Amino acid sequence: MKEEKRLIRKRILEIRETADIGFIHEMSLRITKKFTSMDIFKKSETIMAYMDFRNEVATMDLIKFCISHKKRVALPRIESRETGHKEIYPYVIHDILLDTEPGFYGIMEPVRNPGNLVRPDEIDIVLVPGVAFSEGRYRIGYGAGYYDRFLKKVRTDCIKIGIAFEFQVLKSIPVEEHDVPLDMIITEERIIL
Ligand SMILES: Nc1ncnc2c1ncn2[C@@H]1O[C@H](COP(=O)(O)OP(=O)(O)O)[C@@H](O)[C@H]1O
Ligand SMILES: [Mg+2]
Repeated sequence: MKEEKRLIRKRILEIRETADIGFIHEMSLRITKKFTSMDIFKKSETIMAYMDFRNEVATMDLIKFCISHKKRVALPRIESRETGHKEIYPYVIHDILLDTEPGFYGIMEPVRNPGNLVRPDEIDIVLVPGVAFSEGRYRIGYGAGYYDRFLKKVRTDCIKIGIAFEFQVLKSIPVEEHDVPLDMIITEERIIL
């Protein structure tokens, strides 16, 4: 199981890292347009997005669009708890450049301002990055299980959306009992429900 996941990560990351930047940007824009034209986007108030790195679906335009349309936008920040284990904490940002800084693995993160911390039950939509996804709406991340732990804390009616390029979607992937399925996956070509 673990080994199977590892091999899928390796294979998909190889494709993603060698993908053309122009292609990444064009497909990311298509995905942004798909998401922002959906009814669930229009109805939502608080959206947890992510800051892309290493050729993930780019979110800069998406985040700016959300902010300019008066959405409350939160981004994940990895913090250690007293016990030493690290977890995702979402913080509201108002400006994508002013309110972020390089963090964990060099990924841009929201600045740590206690007043901007968002409780998981305030989130209406979570946009979930990942390495590989399946048509059954499961996900493989980088292997640390951060999102599996975080997604257990959101409301049951919070919409969990995987954001991916079509080449990241496989017919099926190995699933372990701690893996949390998504409600939908948006790619440049389709919406998987
Ligand atoms: N809710 C959870 N509670 C405890 N450990 C978890 C939980 N979710 C995931 N994990 C642990 O995180 C590790 C990585 O999970 P995995 O699903 O392989 O990673 P990813 O989802 O990033 O691809 C696993 O060893 C798993 O035991
Ligand atoms: Mg997992």
